[in-house]
Amino acid sequence: MAAISIVHTAESQDLAMRIGHRLGSRPMPVSEIPFMDGELKVRLAEKPESSEVLFITRLYPDPNRSIVRALFVLHYLNSIGKRIRMFVPYLAYARQDREFLEGESVSIEAVLSQFAHFGVTDLLTVDVHSEKSLSNSSLRMQSISASAALAEAVKGAMETKNAIVVSPDKGAAARAQEFSSLLDVESFAMDKSRDRTTGEVKTADINFEVEGKDAIIFDDMVSTGGSMANASSILLRHGCRSVSAAFTHALLIGNSREKLSSAGVSRMFFTNTIGDFDGAIDISAEVSSAIIGNVKEL
Ligand code: R5P
Repeated sequence: MAAISIVHTAESQDLAMRIGHRLGSRPMPVSEIPFMDGELKVRLAEKPESSEVLFITRLYPDPNRSIVRALFVLHYLNSIGKRIRMFVPYLAYARQDREFLEGESVSIEAVLSQFAHFGVTDLLTVDVHSEKSLSNSSLRMQSISASAALAEAVKGAMETKNAIVVSPDKGAAARAQEFSSLLDVESFAMDKSRDRTTGEVKTADINFEVEGKDAIIFDDMVSTGGSMANASSILLRHGCRSVSAAFTHALLIGNSREKLSSAGVSRMFFTNTIGDFDGAIDISAEVSSAIIGNVKEL
């Protein structure tokens, strides 16, 4: 019997298969049955054999429905006495890690406390937006870094002798710095602000030298593409030779791809945390190692 049984929702099958293969465990799908009124139910066709279960579920592209669905699966696994670890490749709601405007709920605390309530002991994710979002939870949390996998992909695709790494805001600066050291190049941070009411992003002009450089803008995610597009336009205006984008979570909503390409981003590197998209860099090896490091032989 495998040390850990893997249960997964349908849209996470690609990751569950890859991780299952590495852990020697056959993934078991959960089916989701929708009702006409918008409700849903979930069903596991067979009971997981091991006392410990790894539940793999993406919380994107429909975070609200996916969270409810996850709670139903957790409720079931908890009711049959399983010890539960959860792997959520992209932790939705991690950006709402504080009361930005008076009267707002700290959404990530609500989400994590529900996972804990239904028996999750350990939560693994990849490049969580803010470490702060993990700090107030009773769960054991691990945010796995995709930087090494992204750096390998960059090295394999372009000459990095003339490259610089640029973070589009101060918040991503530490991560960008770590990424730049993997490429052995310099890193710089831009200054970005967001209007908390309209969501509009403004990026300040730069005061560092980029003339003739191949910039790699590094961030945890691209959502609307506004932050990356602003950064790219400024870097090209200051004489960068080329601009690429490297990021973990490819939310890439609406016309974000077109926005990036109109702003001069010529190459994108991203992982498969959101979906098994063409060209996505697979992070299942990193995730499996983190799990193996923690799984005890039963
Ligand atoms: C915010 O601080 C994040 O790290 C990303 O920079 C941001 O969420 C990207 O969003 P968008 O693509 O909509 O500008």
